[in-house]
Amino acid sequence: MRELLLEWCGADPEDALAAAEAARGLDDGLLDLAGRMYRSIADDMGGRMWLRWPKPPADAGDAERFVGLYPLLEAVPLMIDFHRGIGVDEAESRLVLQDIGEKLRLNRQMYGRPGLDVAFWFTAHVRGTIYQLGRLQFCMEGTKAAPRMGLHIRGEGGPLGPESVRDSVERALEFFPAKFPELFGPERPMTFMCSSWLLDPQLRDWLPERSNILKFGALFDLVGPETYANAGGHDDIWRFVFARTPDTPMEELPTENTLQKSVMAGLKAGVGYQTRLGGLNRKRLGL
Ligand SMILES: CC(C)(COP(=O)(O)OP(=O)(O)OC[C@H]1O[C@@H](n2cnc3c(N)ncnc32)[C@H](O)[C@@H]1OP(=O)(O)O)[C@@H](O)C(=O)NCCC(=O)NCCS
Repeated sequence: MRELLLEWCGADPEDALAAAEAARGLDDGLLDLAGRMYRSIADDMGGRMWLRWPKPPADAGDAERFVGLYPLLEAVPLMIDFHRGIGVDEAESRLVLQDIGEKLRLNRQMYGRPGLDVAFWFTAHVRGTIYQLGRLQFCMEGTKAAPRMGLHIRGEGGPLGPESVRDSVERALEFFPAKFPELFGPERPMTFMCSSWLLDPQLRDWLPERSNILKFGALFDLVGPETYANAGGHDDIWRFVFARTPDTPMEELPTENTLQKSVMAGLKAGVGYQTRLGGLNRKRLGL
């Protein structure tokens, strides 16, 4: 397990060790849960989106905080077989899994202890549903009849400059029709959707004009809030901007860089940031 975490998932040794040690505390109930989680992956390889696994409760013990990680790691061989079947090589498989190491680090930063609160997210990775192409991740979402591409942004991977966005989307436009022609054939133009705090137009009032986040947001046509429930705004800002849990008081949030200072200025002025849904306007990228 430690080797897989360190060498394939890019985990920090501290997280890999904590996960391996916590596994010793798995009782019958948690083992049963992990077994059911594994089967939910194995039964839906290549499926859309991610699976609705529960998050560990706030008072979870060591083993329970990692319980979703174990079936994910057990499913890595399934993912590799799936990838090989569509001609995705080992380097690309490893790249997909690096997100696990990132989220283990983020978990430690947010909660002050190791664990994996968003194990459900990685059911997309190990089911062969999400791919990292350059700076962006692309997840097959929608339905089989009306598939669409979900666009996701890892925290680790450097700035989100417009050139890197264009390069990624260009790669996705080649990759998915080649690997999944039954879903993204030539008769069906690919649509890219993104649901994120990054698309909140209120950020324009607070971030500097040079900000990549604003340039990214400008590439999307928003779906009106009246048709989209943007429930996660607060939690996403706390998680992705400040790396803190949603119950952290505003006064305790760090303000160490331009983004945090700018977003904080809005919070102090009473702005309720929102998670917004948008469709990528490919023309604005010249694609
Ligand atoms: C999206 C992201 C890559 C944009 O980064 P970027 O291209 O550097 O963005 P900007 O140009 O707008 O901002 C640059 C400034 O914000 C800071 N910054 C950028 N992302 C940050 C983050 N996640 N946390 C804290 N500070 C961040 C940079 O350090 C820089 O500050 P500085 O000028 O004082 O050095 C970055 O915000 C990020 O990693 N976010 C986490 C992942 C995420 O939110 N994904 C979407 C989930 S829905």
